[in-house]
Amino acid sequence: MEVEAAPQGPQKKYYRQRPVRPEQYNWSKHYPAHFNEDGTSKDGRMVEFADIGCGYGGLLVGLSPVFPDKLMLGMEIRLKVEEYVEKRIQTLRAQNKSKGVDEAESYQNISVIRMNAMKFIPNFFQKGQLSKIFFLFPDPHFKKRKHKARIVTSTLLAEYAYVLRPGGIVYTVTDVRDLHEWMVKHLDEHPLFERMSEAETSMDPCVPCVMQDTEEGKKVARNQGDKFLAVYRRIEVQEDMAWDGFAPIIGGEGDDEGDDGGDDGGDGGDGAVAAAAAAGDPVAAKLLAKQVPKRKQQQQQQQQQQQRQQQQQQQRQPKQHRQPKQAQQQAPEKAAGDDAAEGPLAE
Ligand SMILES: C[S@@+](CC[C@H](N)C(=O)[O-])C[C@H]1O[C@@H](n2cnc3c(N)ncnc32)[C@H](O)[C@@H]1O
Repeated sequence: MEVEAAPQGPQKKYYRQRPVRPEQYNWSKHYPAHFNEDGTSKDGRMVEFADIGCGYGGLLVGLSPVFPDKLMLGMEIRLKVEEYVEKRIQTLRAQNKSKGVDEAESYQNISVIRMNAMKFIPNFFQKGQLSKIFFLFPDPHFKKRKHKARIVTSTLLAEYAYVLRPGGIVYTVTDVRDLHEWMVKHLDEHPLFERMSEAETSMDPCVPCVMQDTEEGKKVARNQGDKFLAVYRRIEVQEDMAWDGFAPIIGGEGDDEGDDGGDDGGDGGDGAVAAAAAAGDPVAAKLLAKQVPKRKQQQQQQQQQQQRQQQQQQQRQPKQHRQPKQAQQQAPEKAAGDDAAEGPLAE
């Protein structure tokens, strides 16, 4: 008699919302004028500008006609806001089409994606892919214990430096003086960024857009608030430069927990960096070397914890054997209670 094969459950790899590596991502639904359906490029363009925490998309819409040959991506963690920006772009494209505007001029170079930019930037962009990153009116996280949630930290700056090419530019604008000082301090301290002078920034066509075009910027202007601007250039890594690098969070196979833009993403493999290191990239090799001891440390900690749990269980067992008969009958219930308090199966 033929035994019917048991139905297989869904495989996580077919349900990923983010690519394991940037080159796997199909950009065609974002930029149909520039990518074929199979994900191959029509004109060799890649995303170059990233607006992190793009909100309602004012910067993208403002910059689109200023840089018609650059692809720009807004990254937004809030689902409804991302949906709004997507609709806004679709409408602009359709309106221009009906006016007979050339497709290339029709907001085909801007798009938005819902994601947690603090976790998944290296999943979407290759090393040195970006030429501009924007942090415009980021959430201030005023309380000291919340500072680690700020979008500019030394760890994240190393990650931004990885995806930004030498000569690339980071723009920060905020109306919160304390946050401005925080961002300036961290950027000043980072060896891969140097501040651009006012003379340089005054010539930059992006500056009027970053100051005026975003929804948050407009709100601040209506309330006659201050706007603090700081612009930094990504510099070359020099051979003798002491740089801590970063451990990019690039999920490997089987590492797909919580990648839906929420705050629970898993971290995992180091695929892109390992591949770059294997290909002889010295920066990637340095990064990889830093990651190994860190992971070993985590493994050791896990082992120690398991050993401690085993010891605790062993210590409990002899006590149960010494219990009188009546108490022994109750023991399973008690033991189950103990396990439940510790174990992962607690309901
Ligand atoms: C104060 S708003 C500024 C929006 C826009 N840049 C502007 O100037 O109008 C900050 C935005 O960043 C988004 N955001 C916060 N953390 C984020 C993260 N980790 N990844 C992506 N977006 C994030 C928020 O949802 C919010 O829309």
